[in-house]
Amino acid sequence: PGAELILAIETSCDETSVAVIRGGKEIISNLVSSQIETHRQFGGVVPEIASRKHVEVITLMMEAAVKEAGIKLQDLSAVAVTQGPGLVGALLVGIVAAKSLAMALDIPLIGTHHIAGHIYANNLISDIVYPSLALVVSGGHTELVLLEREGEFRMIGRTRDDAVGEAYDKVARALNFPYPGGPHVDRLAQQSAEVRELPRAWLEADSYDFSFSGLKSAVLAVINQIRMKGEELNTAALARGFQESVIDVLVTKALRAVKEFGARQLLLCGGVAANGGLRAVLQARCEESGIPLLIPPLSLCTDNAAMIGAAAHLKWIRGEFTNLDMKADPGLPL
Ligand code: KG4
Ligand code: ZN
Repeated sequence: PGAELILAIETSCDETSVAVIRGGKEIISNLVSSQIETHRQFGGVVPEIASRKHVEVITLMMEAAVKEAGIKLQDLSAVAVTQGPGLVGALLVGIVAAKSLAMALDIPLIGTHHIAGHIYANNLISDIVYPSLALVVSGGHTELVLLEREGEFRMIGRTRDDAVGEAYDKVARALNFPYPGGPHVDRLAQQSAEVRELPRAWLEADSYDFSFSGLKSAVLAVINQIRMKGEELNTAALARGFQESVIDVLVTKALRAVKEFGARQLLLCGGVAANGGLRAVLQARCEESGIPLLIPPLSLCTDNAAMIGAAAHLKWIRGEFTNLDMKADPGLPL
């Protein structure tokens, strides 16, 4: 009671999502409309189609989220929306919708960073304690972010080429799995007792950056070689080798960063947090080292508007509002 009600909108990629969040903590409604079936036939997200699909459903989703929350539009305190990063045309649809509502109700607009959203999804299930370290892994992102204080983000490492999910999807495609293939590779890897060893990209000794394109190319080279020789490919062993290489680098760098920066907590977020191997190894290694680990439920790991509402709450309490001339920013820095 008394806490603000924020309507949040997320349209940065291929999910149209609208949520109502109370006090940055309580999810009153969180609806997600996925376009994945539409994009699957193209083997990936087609930006033009994504924008058009967002336009088709955004007002319906806003109405439905308000209805499900059981509130009146007049009860809203602010409107939050993902400003970036993401597909510019897709972002634009959410931003125009958010501006219109904020203007009509004469309430503040809060532009929100997509990655801040992924990180603050953790605040919806528990309390983030500071300093905290976030490992953000998705189809578009692979980042290590240090949170020294609430709402302050320091990117200490990021991928120099492919995002983890992207590498998974490309490997999956070479193994003839449908888009998005990450979960298929994960399942295959966990079934295999054999491992086809693959290289790890550690980069410079002190670097927290990642690189996955070399590993992806190594997988593709193995597939091509074996096919050319007409031999039988052990796809499960290859999937397991790929998965182990990815997990080893992610977990090792994340734990090193926790120690170096004295983080009191490790936060895992983004769609690749669904990866069974990653969760298991991270859980085991964190337990060994006595590091508290937070992983939101899957529905809050994949793109959703509740996380945007959770991140927007930090700006609400500081009174950091966004002008109505705010623009979509596909490269918005954290
Ligand atoms: O966060 P998300 O829903 O969308 C964004 O990219 O923002 O993440 C989707 C990505 C896809 O690349 C998908 O293949 C990957 O997450 N993914 C997985 C698993 N589940 C989803 N990758 C590996 N293992 C999984 N179990
Ligand atoms: Zn995302």
